[in-house]
Amino acid sequence: MDINEIISQMTLEEKAGLCSGVNSWETKPVEKLGVTSIMMCDGPHGLRKIASGFGDPNLKSNPATCFPPAVLSACSFDRELIGEIGAAIGDECVFENVSVLLGPGVNIKRSPLCGRNFEYPSEDPYLSGEFAKAFIDGVQSKGVGTCIKHFAANEQETRRFSSDSRVDERTLHEIYFPPFKKVVEEAQPTMIMSSYNKLNGDYTSESQYLLTEILRDRWAFDGVAVSDWGAVNHRIKGLVAGLDLEMPGSAEPLNDKFIIEAVRSGALPESTLDIAVERILKLIERVGNKKKESAPFDADKHNSLALRVATESMVLLKNDKGLLPLNEKAKIVFIGEFAKTPRYQGAGSSDVNPLSITCALDAVMKYTNVSYCKGYDTNNCDEPDAVLQAEAVSAAKVADVCVLFVGLPPAYESEGFDRKHMHLPQGQNSLIEAVAKENPNVVVVLHNGSPIEMPWIDSVGSLLEAYLGGQACGGAIIDILFGKANPCGKLAESFPLKLSDNPSYLFYFGERDLAEYREGVFVGYRYYDAKKMDVLFPFGHGLSYTSYEYSNLRLSKTEIDDTETVTIQVDVTNIGTIAGKEIVQLYVGQKEKDDRLIRADKELKEFAKVSLGAGETKTVVFTLDKYAFAYYNTEISDWHVLSAEYEIILGRSSRDIAATAEIVVNSTVQIPFRADVNTTIRDIRRMERSEPFLKWLAETVPFCAKINDDPEPYVPEMVLRQLWLMGMMTEKSLDEVQKTIDEKLN
Ligand code: BGC
Repeated sequence: MDINEIISQMTLEEKAGLCSGVNSWETKPVEKLGVTSIMMCDGPHGLRKIASGFGDPNLKSNPATCFPPAVLSACSFDRELIGEIGAAIGDECVFENVSVLLGPGVNIKRSPLCGRNFEYPSEDPYLSGEFAKAFIDGVQSKGVGTCIKHFAANEQETRRFSSDSRVDERTLHEIYFPPFKKVVEEAQPTMIMSSYNKLNGDYTSESQYLLTEILRDRWAFDGVAVSDWGAVNHRIKGLVAGLDLEMPGSAEPLNDKFIIEAVRSGALPESTLDIAVERILKLIERVGNKKKESAPFDADKHNSLALRVATESMVLLKNDKGLLPLNEKAKIVFIGEFAKTPRYQGAGSSDVNPLSITCALDAVMKYTNVSYCKGYDTNNCDEPDAVLQAEAVSAAKVADVCVLFVGLPPAYESEGFDRKHMHLPQGQNSLIEAVAKENPNVVVVLHNGSPIEMPWIDSVGSLLEAYLGGQACGGAIIDILFGKANPCGKLAESFPLKLSDNPSYLFYFGERDLAEYREGVFVGYRYYDAKKMDVLFPFGHGLSYTSYEYSNLRLSKTEIDDTETVTIQVDVTNIGTIAGKEIVQLYVGQKEKDDRLIRADKELKEFAKVSLGAGETKTVVFTLDKYAFAYYNTEISDWHVLSAEYEIILGRSSRDIAATAEIVVNSTVQIPFRADVNTTIRDIRRMERSEPFLKWLAETVPFCAKINDDPEPYVPEMVLRQLWLMGMMTEKSLDEVQKTIDEKLN
């Protein structure tokens, strides 16, 4: 394609037309110039190709493999596995002639209430970024494009079309931007989708700051920026800000006319429109226009992959009495409708029409026979169902083990609205308590897209977090319950004890349209750790049927400049009798925090999943650079390292620390600091020339005589102006004092 040549031959109408879709999913072709349309379809955990139309809930998409949504697959902490999902979905896109997959979504799980949490990987930006990069690499390895979404600060569904997320700059750069930055810089997604909401006053679809300054100028994004479906507020503003494509489109969209009028009236330079056109043509050249052969994909292989992902991601949260794995010879009862009709994905635009569904009740047949009681009615379980509950209790009385399948009914969480609380339906809570009263051997299997409160946790023996497990979820649950697979997933989010413990609790949903992110960088475990709070289950937690020991933690250096890297090695041993996989988590924290910076106790900076046979030891190697120690400094608008001692923390979870080591990191970037008449003695003490200055001060100002040897506790808080004001320094004016400070200190 000679893109310049094509642009030069396009009419104004054709250019404007290219900047919006021809329907819900395709761009407009320009046939006379050989420009074909390309199709974009939802994912992200499977392909959702709808033959036509938008918004009609009755329209089924073409059958596709339904992999576990990100809420579960992120718990695998396995980059390779996530890459395999991406590649498999890429194959299905090729088969369906879809050019761009609309995913992954990498908004941060700020509150457990967000209705779309099941689509997002984590509360942690590093894990989210690693997940998204692996996924995008996988999809794009098949020549299919991806569209990272929803850019940015779209962490709630309440008022999602109008709410204004107010987020400070440091928090944006440290928490909400990193997954986007990582993939833009390292995986080059073909597209990025702006979100529905506003950010700090501007709709993200018309934010110059987001779409040009951050995305293009700083991160060098060279793909197409598309609106979320129906997100465009002011098309011309959007185009100027860097929004190339509006979706969905129609044959004669009004906004195309506005673009034409704006160019004709001179309000919009045609060159601005040309930039968007050029980017869209480049996208078509990159992922479309190739007339892909419809290569059939191997559905069985994809189903096996969906099973493997679910198995390697489900999290064994509790197994106190060693109830699991189950003995095939035991008398087992499965209780709960989800055993038969699992909730395996969330609702909304990511709803995949699965090729098959395996429920636990069918999957268990390959090992043993179990009895079954419905226990509750998913569509009506806000209150206990006396008959179903009584039936379950009688079954529990005669069983060796009861496996209870519970979780959130579809009506409780979905794209489009947020949850109001973190409870399971009352009918299910009551069922669990009633069964646990009759039988001490209760295993709970959870199907949910986001954390719940568990008032019954102490009365159950084991708990398997199956989340939303995709089409093969039943097989994965059964393989784990019966020990054919050793659980090896860990939580990608914290489970607070109760909703009000969550850091966003006071401000979530906002005040009318204002959604203030007042907890700042203290999201998820960053907050619970800093507050030294108990949680129900911490970030990174997950049990195994074996145990792992960490030893011999060693660093290549114990002091570095921030221009250097450090290599960290640790030996991990499987000390049990069966093979397993351990997720080694590396966190970094400033050893002793001080008033230079308010920051989290520790942050996840690396992880590795290692496969270990019984008794086997492997050495895990990590390399850290400056960014593992840095924070975002708004004075220099860049990442910066505080010179300090840091702790390298190796954990089985964020709360189960296996080994630590110290390293001093020295900054090579000095942030200019100029003392003035209102600088405190405390800050002056940190300056390079402070010693001679304070000596001079002690000699010159009687009041300051003891400033260096025996300072009263209030002295560090005083500012130089006060010394002057008290008439104790000199008779000089403020300007003259400043001159002295400049000469002697600055
Ligand atoms: C969702 C996007 C989705 C788009 C197209 C929107 O409502 O927010 O995530 O890709 O619809 O279905």
